[in-house]
Amino acid sequence: ATSVPADDRVPDMEKRNLLNLLLLGALSLPTAGMLVPYGSFLAPPGSGGGGGGTIAKDAIGNDVIAEQWLKEHNPGDRTLTQGLKVNPTYLVVEKDRTLATYGINAVCTHLGCVVPWNTAENKFLCPCHGSQYNDQGRVVRGPAPLSLALAHCDIDDGKVVFVPWTETDFRTGDAPWWA
Ligand code: FES
Repeated sequence: ATSVPADDRVPDMEKRNLLNLLLLGALSLPTAGMLVPYGSFLAPPGSGGGGGGTIAKDAIGNDVIAEQWLKEHNPGDRTLTQGLKVNPTYLVVEKDRTLATYGINAVCTHLGCVVPWNTAENKFLCPCHGSQYNDQGRVVRGPAPLSLALAHCDIDDGKVVFVPWTETDFRTGDAPWWA
């Protein structure tokens, strides 16, 4: 009369498996933002311009034409494009309506969230843990340990091309930590 039907255990097992799944899901969420740099290995070689450069792509995947971009983006604008190794990279429009000679990699140096530009505050503000970067991507508040990475931004045949930045970081005077 005290025997327990064997299949009473089944719902428990299922519950445990479900919990494990949920836990796994929760654990893998914070890494989602970090997939961006790793995905870069999948980028086809030679997909960019010459000389190790990569043509910037706009939000719908078209090559960024400098002249067109400057017609559509105001001085001070910072808009995301696809940059080197498919990293989200800000194109910067200077106050004199030219393109800055550097692009700013939007991947937060804390845990890899993509950092939005905040026009009102004139800063990049990371929504994940509150890191702040000035308008050139130099870190001004942690927990981010480092400034946002730079890429050279050139114009080649009318198109915007990013080239790896291996020189001194002009914002800090330090060697580039990303090179
Ligand atoms: Fe940006 Fe943590 S990922 S502050």
